[in-house]
Amino acid sequence: MERFVDVIHKKKIGYELSDSEIENMIHGYCDGTIPDYQMSAMLMAICFNGLSDRELTTLTLAMRDSGQINDLSQIPGIKVDKHSTGGVGDKTTLIIGPVVAACGIPIAKMSGRGLGFTGGTIDKLESIPGFRTDLSNEDFFRAVQTAGICVNGQTADLAPADKLIYALRDVTATVESIPLIAASIMSKKLAAGSDCIVLDVTTGNGAFIKDYEQSLELAQKMVTIGNNAGKTTIAQLTSMDEPLGFAIGNNLEVKEAIDALHGNGPEDLMQVCYSLAAHMISLGKNISYEQAEKEAREAIESGRAWDVFLKMVAGQGGDISYMEHPNTLPQAPIVLEYQSPSDGYITFMDTEGFGNVAGILGAGRSKKEDAVDFTAGIVLQHKINDFVKEGEVLATLYTSDQTRGATALSKIKNCYELSAEPGKPIRLIGDVIR
Ligand code: URA
Repeated sequence: MERFVDVIHKKKIGYELSDSEIENMIHGYCDGTIPDYQMSAMLMAICFNGLSDRELTTLTLAMRDSGQINDLSQIPGIKVDKHSTGGVGDKTTLIIGPVVAACGIPIAKMSGRGLGFTGGTIDKLESIPGFRTDLSNEDFFRAVQTAGICVNGQTADLAPADKLIYALRDVTATVESIPLIAASIMSKKLAAGSDCIVLDVTTGNGAFIKDYEQSLELAQKMVTIGNNAGKTTIAQLTSMDEPLGFAIGNNLEVKEAIDALHGNGPEDLMQVCYSLAAHMISLGKNISYEQAEKEAREAIESGRAWDVFLKMVAGQGGDISYMEHPNTLPQAPIVLEYQSPSDGYITFMDTEGFGNVAGILGAGRSKKEDAVDFTAGIVLQHKINDFVKEGEVLATLYTSDQTRGATALSKIKNCYELSAEPGKPIRLIGDVIR
């Protein structure tokens, strides 16, 4: 029997691990025979020496197989999943899900909660009164069958190896490793059971990976894993050099998504939604990207996507009267305004900073068990390259706590840079990897 210390040594000196060494490592870590200190050493060796495409695929499949793999075969048709690597103001799933479902592609999706400075779809959906994201398998399938879409929370048994390894990475400075991020995300996507996967790989100052070339590498690795696992996978790079849309924070983002589904969404948000939806529809229906994009636009213009959204909310226990009258959604009691300190063009927005400020206001968690204030967050009044006058409101802050509000106001000023001349426009959508 090979000792795990020898396997760590092999990776440390730059050799490739065999499939069985990788599979035994995942089994051993999950059943407790490999202790945290040895796994930590291995993760660090992977950080320094990377993984070949074969090692990466084997690792991802072993992580996928550590728990339940969803069988979506009872839902007819090609199922297409979508995943974002994380962003600020990213409410795309709330819009794209109903759009794609309205085009006849069933969406049976599992989503996550906010992580660090980024928001999570499950928190956004739970800000709708009554909305449930803990449906049993039976109710999940029933919801997909009646509404064409269900967005449920991740079950504890979805890639449990990733949960264990992620928690260890978090405390051993091994989160920022491209192969480890790729394996973590793809193990969950593959276990979720869809036939095709569309990945939104965010890049820029509000993404986990800020450098464009590294984001591209992550996208390529995830597409390679997906294709090696027999799932058609497409990745699109999207800029997070400013928040997406204007709203940041759970029910504020739901309101913006409702506007978007009525055809009144902000331009940048809609551009990202239409391109991701078009990739999904083109995979699901085997049609061209151009035709798929036309169908996505038509789903919004005709009101069909909005009808699907209402059905999804009702199917998951949400109160649709709030959706029909979004102004009745709970609103934070404290509303503060941040005003521009001078005239100028906004040439820089610290997107991660906005995510952190939203967290301070109550929209995120600093510990896993923290409760989220669904009404807290920021509504931006201006974005990159807008010209603003001194005293003009740049952002409206919503919170339930005076102290949080005061701290957030003192921090948000560091999130902007103003200049006499406009800056370079943001390239919102970058490379697409197939
Ligand atoms: N999201 C994940 O699911 N895993 C990572 O490693 C990073 C972001």
